[in-house]
Parts: sequence; C-alpha cells; structure tokens
Amino acid sequence: MKETVMIAGLGLIGGSLAMSIRSRGHFHVLGMDAQDETCRLALEKGAVDEICDDFISGVQKADILIIATPIPMTLGYMAQLNEVHLEKKLLVTDVSSVKGKVMNQAEKITNPAVTFIGGHPMAGSHKQGIQAAKGHLFENAIYVLTPASTADEQDVARIKEVLSPAKARFLVFTTEEHDEMTAVISHFPHLIASSLVHQARNWQKTHPFLEDLAAGGFRDITRIASSNPVLWRDIFLQNKTVLISMLDDWLTEMEQVRTLLANSDGAATENYLLEAKHYRDGLPARRKGAIPSFYDIYVDIHDQPGALLHVIEHLADKDISIKNIEILEVREGITGVLRISFQSSKEQKESRRILESHNYEVTIEQ
Ligand SMILES: NC(=O)c1ccc[n+]([C@@H]2O[C@H](COP(=O)([O-])OP(=O)(O)OC[C@H]3O[C@@H](n4cnc5c(N)ncnc54)[C@H](O)[C@@H]3O)[C@@H](O)[C@H]2O)c1
Repeated sequence: MKETVMIAGLGLIGGSLAMSIRSRGHFHVLGMDAQDETCRLALEKGAVDEICDDFISGVQKADILIIATPIPMTLGYMAQLNEVHLEKKLLVTDVSSVKGKVMNQAEKITNPAVTFIGGHPMAGSHKQGIQAAKGHLFENAIYVLTPASTADEQDVARIKEVLSPAKARFLVFTTEEHDEMTAVISHFPHLIASSLVHQARNWQKTHPFLEDLAAGGFRDITRIASSNPVLWRDIFLQNKTVLISMLDDWLTEMEQVRTLLANSDGAATENYLLEAKHYRDGLPARRKGAIPSFYDIYVDIHDQPGALLHVIEHLADKDISIKNIEILEVREGITGVLRISFQSSKEQKESRRILESHNYEVTIEQ
C-alpha cells in the first residue's frame, strides 16, 4: 500500500507541491484547505487523490505532513500536533518563508511520533491560490531545509526523497542562516521596493506626468512590490528583528550617501556606484531564487502597426511559449522596447536566435 502525504493548505505553494508529488505516483496525496472552492479545484486539477474533512483526522492517516498555510495558521497546526494521538511515525515539514518562529514551535513538539524538518521552497509567483499552482514551480529552485534538533540525517534524506518530484536543489541551513540571508536578498529589497513606490506616489501629486515616465527601470526594480500584501505582512512581522537591524544599517548607509552628495564628493560617489556594480556583475547567473525571476529578452521594435504581432508570430511559429509580455517604452515614431519573459533559459536563448534571424535587435540582460 502507498504511503500517504497530507498537504494542509492547497494554495500556490501547497497546490504546486501536491501536483508534483502526485505526478510521481509514489504516494497517496491527501489534501485539506480552509476554502471549499480550493478543495474542489485541487481535485479537478488532479493535485490530490482525496480531500480530508479536518486536520486531525487527516494527520492520523498520514506518514508525511506538509503544512503550506500562511505562517500564523502553520504555527497553530504545529501546536495541534501535541494533542493528536498517532499510531505511526509522522515526518512533518512546512513551507514558510521565515523560519524563526516556526522552528521555535518545532522545538516545542513533544509528541514522540513526530519529527519536524522546516522547509522553504524558494520560488513563487506574483499570483496566489491553487489557480496559479504548477507542478514545475520549483524546478531548479533552491529549497532550504532547517531540521529541528530531533531530526537526524536519515529524516533529512527521507524528506528530500518525498519532495524530489519538485526537482528543486536542496540546501540545509540553520534557522538563523536562513532568516538572515532571505532578509538580505528578499525581505529587505521588498521593503525598499514598496517604499520607492510610495515615494513615486507622493511625487505624483507634484508631477502628474510622473506615471508616464515610470517605465522600464522603475517597473523592474519595483516589480516585487506587486506581490500578495497579506503574505508579505506575515513575512515582515515574522522576520522583524532581522529586518529592523538591516533597516538601521541601511539608514546609516543612506546618511553616508547623503553626505557624499552634500559634499559633492564625485570620487567617493563613483566608488560607491562602482563597488555596487562589481558585486552585482559578479553574482552567479540568473536562476530561480527568493525573488521570482523570469528569463527576459528585450526586443527593439518600431512604433508601426502590427510590430508586436510580427514578433509574437515568429515565436509562435516555433512553438515557444511566452510567459509575459510588456511594452516598456513606445513614443510615437520612435523605437520602443518590448520585454518578453520565458519560463526557461533555453526558450530565452532560442527566442533571441529566432528574432535575430529576422533582423530584430535583441538584448539579454546579464
Ligand atoms: N508565494 C510565495 O512566493 C511563497 C514562496 C515560498 C513560500 N511561501 C510560503 O507558503 C505559504 C503559503 O503561501 P501561498 O503563496 O501558497 O499562499 P496562498 O494564499 O496561495 O495559499 C494559502 C492557502 O492556505 C489556505 N488556508 C488558509 N488558512 C488555512 C487553514 N487554517 N487551514 C487550511 N488551509 C488554510 C488558503 O485557503 C490557501 O488556499 C506561506 O507560509 C508562505 O510563507 C510562499
């Protein structure tokens, strides 16, 4: 008989894990969600074999439990694990983007049948819910595991095996390592992106034309500010200690930058920008990370009727599927830029080759 994987919370992350695990066929996948409609869609999409009525009855049937709810609910479910009588061993993981409180709660689990290993699949989408779930969401993404003190190497190996259909790249970190690193490369940039949008919104009162200028670059660096505010509220609050300390450092740094400008210190200003450029240019090639990324190409087009359609036709002819398309700047009669996003680097490179063969100027940002 197949072992049972139960997934509590069948939204973007839980739904995507359910789809990948079920597609392998090794486990019976049992799901539950607070929303009936989500449960219905999970069955319809083939993400789960069965829906269970409540958390406790599902957990009693499960061999592995994946908690994929918003963090406050995850903490609540973890607390319930002490109250449930289990006849067999239960390996539990979660998917929370911040690990501090979750791992504190994990250390409070006294039920001898339960072993907990924290998890954070580092890929996502600006969308939420089962509608946006995909079996390949975590392909090549980093998947961080944070084992609790009672988990041993065999438990870690087992959870990797269960999650292997997601085709992610597993890394094991301590809770502190995870929360500091994700604060630097994901949570803090999100906070700054949102603050930049607020600044632009305030300035728009002075310059009503501003939104027309807020094209390419501004949209690029603020793209993450369009993500799910409820999810990000939870992340900010859960990781607030690390974030506050980073904010303090950043304010000190901004004071220093302010002084450079006030003193018209060209050499030091250039050096500040140069050091940032060197570090940024030396980062490893694009891959899935904490901030959802796509494989983009930039195509110069002319503001002529049908220009957009021709580009799309060339790609469609070769069965290349486009993830997103955006016109960055088109002013009348002037060359504009089209940003086309793909799911993989292969499609990105192939699209460049196709469009260049039709004499388009194509750039890939490094
Ligand atoms: N979205 C991302 O980019 C991302 C990436 C990695 C990790 N995460 C983590 O994944 C978790 C879920 O986020 P998501 O993006 O899938 O959100 P989501 O809104 O798409 O899904 C959450 C699901 O949980 C369900 N739910 C809420 N309360 C519940 C309860 N008490 N019992 C059962 N189900 C309940 C909701 O109905 C919904 O279907 C969060 O903890 C988040 O930190 C999110």
